[in-house]
Amino acid sequence: MKQVGVALIGLGTVGSGVYKTVEMQKSYIEHKEGISLTIKKVLALDYALNIPDWQKAKDYHKDIIADESIDIVVELIGGINPAREFVLAALGAGKTVVTANKELIARHWPELNAAAKNSGAGLYFEASVGGGIPILRTIWDSLQANEVTSVMGIINGTTNYILTKMDEDKASFEKVLAEAQQLGMAEANPKNDVEGLDAMYKLSILSSMAFHARVPVEYIYCEGITGITQEDIAYGNELGLTVKLLAIGKKKDKTIEVRVHPTMIPKTHPLAAVRGAFNAIFLRGNIVGDIMLYGRGAGDMPTASAVVSDVVYAAGREKHHYTTFYNEDNVSDELSFENNWECEFFIRIIVLDRPGVLAKIASVFGKYGVSIASVRQQGVSSDSVPLIFVTHKAKEISVKRAIEDTSYLPEVLSVASTIRVER
Ligand code: HSE
Repeated sequence: MKQVGVALIGLGTVGSGVYKTVEMQKSYIEHKEGISLTIKKVLALDYALNIPDWQKAKDYHKDIIADESIDIVVELIGGINPAREFVLAALGAGKTVVTANKELIARHWPELNAAAKNSGAGLYFEASVGGGIPILRTIWDSLQANEVTSVMGIINGTTNYILTKMDEDKASFEKVLAEAQQLGMAEANPKNDVEGLDAMYKLSILSSMAFHARVPVEYIYCEGITGITQEDIAYGNELGLTVKLLAIGKKKDKTIEVRVHPTMIPKTHPLAAVRGAFNAIFLRGNIVGDIMLYGRGAGDMPTASAVVSDVVYAAGREKHHYTTFYNEDNVSDELSFENNWECEFFIRIIVLDRPGVLAKIASVFGKYGVSIASVRQQGVSSDSVPLIFVTHKAKEISVKRAIEDTSYLPEVLSVASTIRVER
């Protein structure tokens, strides 16, 4: 039986889940994988679990790095510092690192990958995208024959929970967010989730793996859900569309587009059925066609499932493998990133109800080559009425310009929302 010593950094929600999983599943993993896992040390500021004193590390370097019986360091504290220093020290000492830290991987991947390669250690991060959903290893180990041409995912549970509740309860973003915070479904500081940053880090990792190319966060367009209103959700419903915060990656020939933004999708789309805090990733490969993976994207035990899977996977390998992206050394080598993508748009404009207003707006749209697929006016009022447009596929920059010009028309009170549509 192969004996594998593990150190945990962090014993919060996910750390506790990993600790419990190793205890609970130890003999099952021994029987099934021939690998005996032992948690040798835990380094934490706060202990969400009662653990024996002998397991508590006092000094990272003395108690973990210098301990030759520790093969794998599991980093679960999140954020960049001190996680980066901990991970680099472990890799430098030849210890394999397993982490759930999406921000660290997204921002420091080349440096960490080089440190791992240099010492021959492994670097694994399945839990960084989609929590318990085994998406990265599916791409790495089960889709080798495929060139992935698109990924589209709901990879932030907090925002999917908020959008689902706004739809079900007909409530505002602010009200649902406050309720979600009370229930522990959203952080006290929800910025990372509601402004799309968490999904952006995850998309950087997911699309890099999917497209066999490094996709730094700086190339990802990112817009959160703070501007989504009850009206948008209701008008979307009337059009058979539902609003989701989607992380989208597309690759065509040598061009990649990557974006995180609220997106209207048809209610018949498989991702529309993903409600509450669940995550799902819809992926298209040139050989396999479409596949979708669905599950819990957060939480102690689902995330622990991915972390412990990485530990077992790493422990079972003679040699670790490393990314060999097309643009490993230089992001712009061979590939370019598109920021003028094409999609349909849902646009809600508040106007004075006067003859000729629709024609004026249509003429501005036409000037920029934006073709209108449908328009509806809701209600009659001497003051203001909403006009709801859905365009045919149009270029992002053309739509931005058309909207800017439209907003200067004297009868236009405001362009209340612009939401991209994917089908
Ligand atoms: N905050 C994340 C979410 C979970 O809401 O999905 C951790 O990645």
